[in-house]
Amino acid sequence: MMDNRRLFNWTAWGYDFITRQEIWREQIRQTLTYAQDPQGLEEVLDLGCGPGISTFVFGEALVDAKIVGVDVAEKMIRRARAHHLTSYSHLENVKFDRADVYDLPFEAESFDLAVGHSFLYLLPDRLNALRSILEVLRPGGILVLMEPNAEGTVAQALRHVEGRRWLRSPFAAGRFATSMVMWRIVSRSQGQLRKDELEGLFEGAGFYGCHVQPTLGGLGLHAVGKKRG
Ligand SMILES: C[S@@+](CC[C@H](N)C(=O)[O-])C[C@H]1O[C@@H](n2cnc3c(N)ncnc32)[C@H](O)[C@@H]1O
Repeated sequence: MMDNRRLFNWTAWGYDFITRQEIWREQIRQTLTYAQDPQGLEEVLDLGCGPGISTFVFGEALVDAKIVGVDVAEKMIRRARAHHLTSYSHLENVKFDRADVYDLPFEAESFDLAVGHSFLYLLPDRLNALRSILEVLRPGGILVLMEPNAEGTVAQALRHVEGRRWLRSPFAAGRFATSMVMWRIVSRSQGQLRKDELEGLFEGAGFYGCHVQPTLGGLGLHAVGKKRG
């Protein structure tokens, strides 16, 4: 199987094009609802930031926080930095680093929130990735993931988008539909996750207070866990 760095270097342009749409951005924004006091956050880590769409969403929503987007694929980081310069230069609270989750270039206890939006399922050693994330979280810090649900279907995700949306912006809705089909295909080959599997991984890595619930009409799962304070 192709490793993630090569896969996402190769698909960076297409991924960027297909996920640059409001429905995906809304989905990313939802991960912030798990933080007790989002406006009190100071340092946020966006894991597997891709072309930066998720990082910009956090940068806009959390104006007082510093957000770092990391990705293992150089082409993703290059695209994220280019978008930052051309379309998001007003976001001075955002920056990008090329980094592998297994070897994060940050001091222990640096972040109060880490988010991985469509990320963990891609990794061959999920438990060690979660341990590495736990290390850079501050005591009391939280990790929120959005992952493909092994029990979901694309039809569920499409039903999740109200009819008005399809009529108002058919192009954006069409892009969303395409992105969901692609996500399903890629995640099927990389390994979709189940609720109990995610809970077990979080607990095995040392997180507590873990809970997992469906999102995207059941096509995705939100998984949340805390570092002991
Ligand atoms: C599906 S994309 C998600 C991008 C973005 N978070 C979003 O929601 O649109 C997953 C990203 O994770 C990155 N990735 C995969 N393995 C990684 C690793 N070991 N360390 C850091 N990033 C990784 C990939 O290069 C890819 O850009």
